[in-house]
Parts: sequence; C-alpha cells; structure tokens
Amino acid sequence: MTDEAYIHGFTGEEQRRLTKMQEILNRTELDAIDLRGVRTLLDVGSGLGQLTRDFARALGGDARVLGIERSSVQLDEARRQAEAAGEADLVELRQGDATALPLEESERGTFDLAHTRFVLEHVPDPAAVVREMVAAVRPDGGRIVLLDDDHEVLRLSPECPEIEHAWRRYWESYRDLGTDPLVGRRLAELLVEAGATPVRVTSVFYGAVRGMELFEPVVANLHGVLAGAAESLDRSGRLSRNELATALEAFDAWSRHPAATVWYSLPLAEGRRTAATDDAGRP
Ligand SMILES: C[S@@+](CC[C@H](N)C(=O)[O-])C[C@H]1O[C@@H](n2cnc3c(N)ncnc32)[C@H](O)[C@@H]1O
Repeated sequence: MTDEAYIHGFTGEEQRRLTKMQEILNRTELDAIDLRGVRTLLDVGSGLGQLTRDFARALGGDARVLGIERSSVQLDEARRQAEAAGEADLVELRQGDATALPLEESERGTFDLAHTRFVLEHVPDPAAVVREMVAAVRPDGGRIVLLDDDHEVLRLSPECPEIEHAWRRYWESYRDLGTDPLVGRRLAELLVEAGATPVRVTSVFYGAVRGMELFEPVVANLHGVLAGAAESLDRSGRLSRNELATALEAFDAWSRHPAATVWYSLPLAEGRRTAATDDAGRP
C-alpha cells in the first residue's frame, strides 16, 4: 500500500482530528493495558506518536520505546509535536514498514511488548504485521497487544438511518483498497496464525451520550472521518457528495437530541509468544 492509498490521507485537518481523538482514547487505552514490568516497548505504525509518548511517560525514565512508522509526513509531524512538547528524546521514531520491521538483528526477539493500533485495518496483509510483531518480542513470554476497528459495531440511539447508511458505505470502501474494515473481530485469530497464544480480549469503549464531555469530540471525530472520505466515496460511486452532505446534516440534528448516544468500542486482543514460537513468528 502506498501513502496515497491510505484511506484517511495526511492533510492538516486530518492530523488535527487524529490529535483530538488521541486525547480521548489514549487514557482509556492505557488503563486497559497492564504495563507493569515492561521495559522495552515497540509501537508499530506509530502515526503522530502521541500514544507512543504516552507509553513512554507511563513506563518512566529508563524504559525504551521505539515507534515504527512508514509515512515520512506522519514522522515529520510526530517529531515536530514531540519537539514542541519538550519530549524530543522521549521515544525513538524510525521509518519503516510494519510488514518488514526495520529492526537490527540485536533488537529482534527482545521487546517486552509490541503494540499496534489502527494499523491492521489499513494493510492488505495484517497477518504479516502480526508475525513481525511476534518475532520482535521476547521468546519467553513477550506480549503482543493488538487494537483495531470492527466498524460494524457502531450503533446510534435514537437511530439515525442516514448516517448509519453513510457509515456502512464508508467502511465497505476499505475493501476497494484490499483491507478489512472488520479486522477487529479477527485479532485473536491473527495472533494464533502468527504462532502466539491469545491470553486476553477486551474492548476499549469509545462512545458517549450527550451530556458527557466526550460527546462533542466523539461526534466531531465521526463527522470528520466521513467528511474526510467524501471525495473517495464519491469517486468510487459508493456515496455521492449530496448523499453524504444530507447524512451529515441529519447527524448534526441528531446530535442535538438530549439522549443522543454513540455506542462504539474498539476490540483489543493480547497474545504471548512462547518458547514454541520461532524467530519468524511461527509455532
Ligand atoms: C490511523 S493511523 C494510527 C496511528 C497510531 N497507531 C495511533 O493509534 O494513533 C495509522 C498509521 O499507520 C501507518 N501505516 C499504515 N500502513 C503501514 C505500514 N505498512 N507500515 C508502517 N506504518 C503504516 C500510517 O501511515 C498511519 O500513520
């Protein structure tokens, strides 16, 4: 997959949306991962690096955190944000592909934990990413934490048929790029295929009801995801610009309902590499 094929693109507006979303999600995600005993952490597809830096802060001074990111645009912005926060040296960010991790031989098989979020849904071969992650962690129980979307779990209450239709058209368009919008439900399978043992599944809640502080950012994020895909949806014939505009108007009206609720959660699966898994991640 080239940078151009990445469904969200790399515009300034898209990067602002992702930054806002980070603030909402990262605290919840950190609460869902037990970081005790972790001294080396690999973050695959680290994007703008906010969560990568959150991990490093949570782990403390002597921990080593390495983020791998393929896009130079994302890496530049990640480095700019780290610098602006006075955290230029907090994590190492390295350019490379998740399906062929740019690790030294001396680094492979040494990480306590390898993590990836919102990346498996963007690669045509997510199993290759998970195999690389398994090979990157310690053979004696290194942990692999996968978090990704299952777009079908979105529910709005009261119902908003226009936006639910647009949402479905949006996530179905992942298939035009050869990627799986429902990969979140397959995380444990991917671990098994890569030779790791799934030891835990849970989900990170990412919804809100009007009246929660989170409601506005969650709604803005959904709005931004759809608006950002307007051109590609129109071009692919899946949803015209007019249909999307109508759906977004309906969504704005919906969001003023006092009981408006977004139900959404992100599947998380954790696996362990055991001695029976070789360096290529095979059992
Ligand atoms: C939606 S962002 C998620 C970023 C970060 N993991 C987070 O949760 O904030 C997906 C990132 O994965 C990167 N990416 C996609 N395919 C990749 C690949 N094959 N190797 C490395 N990075 C990749 C994209 O460039 C993008 O920065």
